[in-house]
Amino acid sequence: MAERIVDPHRDPAVAAALGRLGTDGATLTIDGLPVTELAERFGTPAYLFSARVLQQRVLMARSTLGDRVRLLWSIKANPSLALTRILAMAGTGAEIASLGELQIALAAGHPAAALRFAGPGKTDHELANALAAGLGGFHVESLDELEALAALAAARGTVAPIALRVNLPQAAAGSRLRMSGRAARFGIDADDVPMVLARVRARESLRLVGLHTYGGTQSFAAEAFVAQAQRLAEAAAAWERAADIRLTEIDVGGGFGVPTYCGDPEFDVTVAGQGLRRVLEAHDRHDRTWFVELGRWLVAPAGVYLTRVVRCRQSGGQQFVVLDGGLHHCAAAAGVGTVLRRPPLLVHATALQTDAREVVAIGGPLCTPADQFAEAVAMPPLRTGDLVAVLNAGAYGLTFSPTGFLSHPTPPEVLVEYGKARVIRDRGTAADALLRQQP
Ligand SMILES: Cc1ncc(COP(=O)(O)O)c(C=O)c1O
Repeated sequence: MAERIVDPHRDPAVAAALGRLGTDGATLTIDGLPVTELAERFGTPAYLFSARVLQQRVLMARSTLGDRVRLLWSIKANPSLALTRILAMAGTGAEIASLGELQIALAAGHPAAALRFAGPGKTDHELANALAAGLGGFHVESLDELEALAALAAARGTVAPIALRVNLPQAAAGSRLRMSGRAARFGIDADDVPMVLARVRARESLRLVGLHTYGGTQSFAAEAFVAQAQRLAEAAAAWERAADIRLTEIDVGGGFGVPTYCGDPEFDVTVAGQGLRRVLEAHDRHDRTWFVELGRWLVAPAGVYLTRVVRCRQSGGQQFVVLDGGLHHCAAAAGVGTVLRRPPLLVHATALQTDAREVVAIGGPLCTPADQFAEAVAMPPLRTGDLVAVLNAGAYGLTFSPTGFLSHPTPPEVLVEYGKARVIRDRGTAADALLRQQP
């Protein structure tokens, strides 16, 4: 089915993103630095990040969720050392899902005790290394994992602090990627929790500290997040009574969505914050810590994927714009993981005040039809050499993309902080294609 022709420059999410990042007349800026200058200095394609926008997101999350809630940064959304450091300095803990993410968290200055380890397939090797690092907590996702962790902790003569990830029977409505509410690879079914609690009690090498739930990601339904938090808090109260235990850590998940495609709404963080405060009014205690874990909501709005037009061509009466970047760096913008294709938040980065429009197809340099950002989109006229930016692109970008496909060099990540730009991840080179290979 042909795409409806949309005009991203008129999309409210584009206006909001431009408002956060800044503009100088017709040109997109990152904290006052025009992208033309940044492209000249660092080349294209490139990821550009605003430290100021990132810090503002943390402040906004904290002020809306309240000071009884600790924020955990989900490193998987962007495993950048520099961004993780900024978030650590802004006071977030972190949620890790691999030993690589553990390295990043520690290098960014997180004490191991501030970290929580999530994921349904933690290997014994990963668990043992995380134990050795003195990790603050393990979000245990299955009975199998529980027994493995108990054995590893016992062998080390230590006690592992754990929270059970609960697969609540009610789905987190509104999530584009659901992870609970049915048979799932994630978490322990709520019905099985009493049996698992008995098992924890029998293992001296485990210390139960709390519960965790994570219903899904890229959700635009703030009420659904609140409802899940409420259900977890109620379940915690019931299990505390039934098993005579004290649950001092409740991690209510997150999944706050960020507009990624034209027509996407904004997640109403105020509704989420007010609702969570109501849950806490009923369930808070002085010995309890509440966590919310956020990835994309913190970092996506702080990042832009900047590309340059390499070729403009006509075929079958249609205009095609070919960029120097695409699917291999910014997979989500090319629709990977979506069913209904819609254009991402694309702008002509130096024609923000132009009213003229041309309908074009825009894609990258890869030799596959999948490398397409939009099949038919109304854009200010684009010519060879012009800059095209994908907005709200700071999460699940480079490391979520098939960067090895076609062996192009990976783009650099550039951070603008206090009015100065610097590379925080080097650009790759063509010779990287040979890395770790033997003839
Ligand atoms: C357990 C868990 N926590 C946090 C996240 C981060 O999600 P998001 O970046 O959408 O906030 C994910 C994403 O898959 C997850 O599985």
